[in-house]
Amino acid sequence: MKPFFAPLFEALINHARQEPVGFHVPGHHGGQALKQELWSDRANHHLIEYFYKIMQLDVTELSSTDDLHHPEASIKEAQQLAAKTFGADETYFLVGGSTSGNIALLLTLCEPDDVIIVQRNVHKSIINGLKLAGAKAVFLSPQIEMHSGLATIPAVQQVEEALALYPEAKAVFLSNPNYYGMSVKLEPYVDVVHRHNKPIIIDEAHGAHYRFHSSLPPSALSEGVDAVVQSAHKTLPTLTMGALLHVQGSRIQRDMLRQSLAMIQSSSPSFPILASIDISRAMIDALGAAMFDKSLKSAAGFRRWIHQQGTAVREMEISNNTTADAVSDLLLDPLRVVLYDSSGKLNGYELQKHLEQHGCFAEMADSRYVVLVFGIQTSSQDTKRLQQAIEAISGDRIEHITLQKRDTDISDPTNLTEHKAMAVSEPVSFARARFNNKKSERILLSNAEHHISAEMVTPYPPGIAILHPGERITAAMIAHIQNLSAMGAKFQGAADPLMETISIYRKSEGEPT
Ligand SMILES: Cc1ncc(COP(=O)(O)O)c(C=O)c1O
Repeated sequence: MKPFFAPLFEALINHARQEPVGFHVPGHHGGQALKQELWSDRANHHLIEYFYKIMQLDVTELSSTDDLHHPEASIKEAQQLAAKTFGADETYFLVGGSTSGNIALLLTLCEPDDVIIVQRNVHKSIINGLKLAGAKAVFLSPQIEMHSGLATIPAVQQVEEALALYPEAKAVFLSNPNYYGMSVKLEPYVDVVHRHNKPIIIDEAHGAHYRFHSSLPPSALSEGVDAVVQSAHKTLPTLTMGALLHVQGSRIQRDMLRQSLAMIQSSSPSFPILASIDISRAMIDALGAAMFDKSLKSAAGFRRWIHQQGTAVREMEISNNTTADAVSDLLLDPLRVVLYDSSGKLNGYELQKHLEQHGCFAEMADSRYVVLVFGIQTSSQDTKRLQQAIEAISGDRIEHITLQKRDTDISDPTNLTEHKAMAVSEPVSFARARFNNKKSERILLSNAEHHISAEMVTPYPPGIAILHPGERITAAMIAHIQNLSAMGAKFQGAADPLMETISIYRKSEGEPT
């Protein structure tokens, strides 16, 4: 094992060891402010001790620590070490999650009204980044994995088509892997985007651990992308909100990026969060691939068990289909287990609740699936509890549960035809001022072709916005919405839950259609 070296963490420890008297913020002064008589009763005292220890490391920018926005000492060293470990030219620590990294990148890439090519099924931070930048998005529809009905990344051919249609685009911004741990190799995407001499940016929020074990998929950086955002807190032992932004090559303007990060992130970033990113990196350096052995073994053991048992609760299956519609070469994260109730009695939310009743808390659920994330510490004892929970749930005869059919079947061929027809959108403006004083009205969806939508239309599942406010409504979109509605899809936040009507912006006089 290599030595454990975390310079930022050590700077905080060394500072606390001096037992300094602080005449600076934060107001808890290394936790001293908590040492009140208030806590003298035993139960509270025990709890407050935990917090006190964290607060001892919660300092501000001092000569013995560093400044995130002008790093010259331990933060600089910690970021440089992270860049080396993750394979970047430069790495920035984030204290506002991948959310802050995605927004900062959009502000770096786009001036108001600039066009950027974006995958439609993105995290809301990317939509918010588009709004803050006032940019225009050309949306690409994701590919749908046929068997599971889950959305992945758009096809590389669509990226190429969009780049040919919109040569003015500033960049291509995609998400890989998805929440269910499905990803593709990015090299073909990088080749296409770089052939057009544009940067390719990847939201790799769920893949900070990739590349560090031969059983894990390759990381976006190792596939050659220009900038990557990773939620270290999701899959590495980092405190919540701790994330990483990596860049390589010369296509991203680093000065602009630093300015954007300074605009988006607090001028008083949390040092415990920063130190926990440093600790995660130091653990990877010290332990290497072995850091993931235990959890990979636990996940593999659990998979063997569930396949042998043949319980109603099963692991998500994906298609081996090799037709043109299949998502090519899908890679799965072995540390993400996606479960569903094959008997159809429990939808994903209900299955999640039942697991919780047996003490097992999942990362997320949708109308069909429950997603479990295995952390580096997940042991065979943990999976034993999960197995017991699944046995109990499968054995339960829960009469009050109504038989739930899957809400929609996105793999329906008519859906796919329409889905493809919407593959590359027109540029959709996210300029906030554009619609501020515009009046909207509701009209029949069937009459809405060519109008500009005033609402976001998001069927669930799969939870991907078909329409954003400001986007022109096409015949394919109308048919797609009508089909999904007929199949019983729910539309998140829609004023008309059946989507027979839609809100559109009324045209001003003289305005072209
Ligand atoms: C794909 C994706 N990107 C970005 C984010 C935002 O990450 P964070 O919570 O680190 O801000 C999430 C959060 O779940 C996500 O799923």
